[in-house]
Amino acid sequence: MAENIKKRIERLKKEILEHNRLYYTEGAPSISDSAYDGLMAELKELEKGHPEYATQDSPTRTVGAPVTDKLKKVRHIVPMLSLESVNAEDGATRFDWTCEKEAGHMSGYVCEPKFDGMSIELVYEKGELARGVTRGDGFIGEDVTLNVRTISNVPKKLKGKNVPDLLSVRGEVMMHISDFQELNRKQAEKGRDMFANPRNVVAGSMRQLDPEVTAARKLHVYVYQIMDISDGMPGTQKEALKRLTALGFGEAPDIEHCADIREAISYHHRMEEKRERMDYEIDGVVIKVDDIRLQEKLGMRTNNPKWAVAYKFKPRKEITRVENIIVQVGRTGTLTPLALLNPVEVGGVTVSRATLHNMDQIERLGVKIGDYVKVERAGDVIPYISGVLKEKRTGKEKDFRMPSKCPSCGGHIEKEDVFYRCPNGLSCPAQAKEAITHYASKDAADIEGLSEKTVALLYDRDIITGIASLYDIKREDLSALEGFKDRKMANILGAIEKSKDITLDRFLYGLGIKNVGKHIAKLIADKFGTLDRIMAATKEELVEINEIGPEIAESIVEWFSEKHNIAAVGKIQKTGVRIKAVEKKKDGVFSGKKVVFTGTMSAMSRTEAEKLVESMGGQASSSVGPGTDILVAGEKAGSKLDKAKKIGVKVLSEEEFIKMISR
Ligand code: IVH
Repeated sequence: MAENIKKRIERLKKEILEHNRLYYTEGAPSISDSAYDGLMAELKELEKGHPEYATQDSPTRTVGAPVTDKLKKVRHIVPMLSLESVNAEDGATRFDWTCEKEAGHMSGYVCEPKFDGMSIELVYEKGELARGVTRGDGFIGEDVTLNVRTISNVPKKLKGKNVPDLLSVRGEVMMHISDFQELNRKQAEKGRDMFANPRNVVAGSMRQLDPEVTAARKLHVYVYQIMDISDGMPGTQKEALKRLTALGFGEAPDIEHCADIREAISYHHRMEEKRERMDYEIDGVVIKVDDIRLQEKLGMRTNNPKWAVAYKFKPRKEITRVENIIVQVGRTGTLTPLALLNPVEVGGVTVSRATLHNMDQIERLGVKIGDYVKVERAGDVIPYISGVLKEKRTGKEKDFRMPSKCPSCGGHIEKEDVFYRCPNGLSCPAQAKEAITHYASKDAADIEGLSEKTVALLYDRDIITGIASLYDIKREDLSALEGFKDRKMANILGAIEKSKDITLDRFLYGLGIKNVGKHIAKLIADKFGTLDRIMAATKEELVEINEIGPEIAESIVEWFSEKHNIAAVGKIQKTGVRIKAVEKKKDGVFSGKKVVFTGTMSAMSRTEAEKLVESMGGQASSSVGPGTDILVAGEKAGSKLDKAKKIGVKVLSEEEFIKMISR
């Protein structure tokens, strides 16, 4: 009995330590907070009853996670070296001199973005993806093949007739900033912790032991280097990249050939400027000698090649002081603490505020008003605080506390999990302004010139009260306002008028329904076609859409069951807004067909296959039922196949499916 308890304690300790590691080191928990709390509670209870087994290293007494490793170790075909890096123009010029001196002559460079994700080796044997390995220490990495397989733009089989027997390529696993923001939005809505940056999500997802978790994240791989190839190395880096594209890899974006180092430097400057508008993170550019014979001539140093250099951008991490922590009221009433910072330039942009997400985040960071903190900025992601310099404390720092009344309407605050909310909806000025700003935003009604600031001004002067009132704004209302010259008034009024023609998906997104981002709005608009049908949709009908689960369906049905929401929509429609219904796609081999996939497919991932079906007029669904038209059965198909056979659903093999789509 005692032996069993001891074993159980050991098991729990191990398990909790692993979850700690995922949570603290990887920033990517694999179980829910409540499941974690359950394990912890059980351990505490057992230790209390059996103090003889309660050791110092128990996670009930320590915080944070030591690294434990469960993934298989694999040796790289060719060591994955790193790059020498330089931070300024003269570093790049020096690199060019050395190349020229040592190689005798120079024949141009290939310049590439320095992708800021996670480095990976992909090995193909006889054209098939054999394994994916993390960089590790450069010589031995971890086997993440199962996770790599879930990434849709990684070919599982190489394309074309001339497939080499062996191919080892190096690339970077990335998450697009837009997908990262969407993920964080969902995390926030579920009351879970937010991820700090896309790179953390990538690292955490790739080292997951459960590939399903990785599959749920939208990852991409950009390949940029052939490490080994059995049928001969191409003559130049440019040709090598072309060959990779021909073999079926997605083309890495923004790669340029530069005749000399001056062009390479100008590429660096252009990319540094473009970086702000890109949907993925880069932290510099990589300049590579194009001619592979010259590369071989130049050779290697101990840790890096002599023929390439990483020319980094200005860092986007700075230290500054938290002047105050205030509270913002969001569109759905959630109170978000916001740090007001002593303004500091982070990678070319002045940062004076950083979100602190929620009370949990404040506690985890241990941040107080007056603290010196590290601020980081990633792409167009809102700046965040990544750490507190506790050694700089003077003792005058103050703790932050959530207010008990809404800072906007003075109403009573409710607490839900880690969130504090003002339940007053559109009667709370902060929430009303947010709702109007959201409706006017680029992906919704796209009313140019109606910024958050302008909305606030118009609202505070009682010129607008809600979305519908936007369409009543008259010139006279604006002319009395400071700073509104003729041109500005004409622009805003013109943009408002123009927004009267709006597509259904944009309108739906603009309503700001919880859980309904622009992608989900598009799916719903495509399925239902008109606003009336959406308003009447049931939960069952909504979850028929592949990417919509019960949670999203619930938010939609709930939103349209509220009288004041229906009234608000009615009011908008009365203003003369014309919502363009979506025409049903009729063409395509899968028109009107409901298709289910089961088992594993070799040529593409399930998500890819589902997207294809949808692009051909069909509807992909996840469960087999009387409404199913086709079941595509891959390898190791299980119960869905049995069920389909039983109820007489047409079954296609992967091959037959591919034939059908290529027709
Ligand atoms: S080439 C032998 N090209 O930057 C040279 N690396 O230390 C192989 N990286 O972790 C590297 N973008 O994973 C190369 N276009 C690019 C890259 C790139 C990002 C990463 C690489 C490594 C780090 C350099």
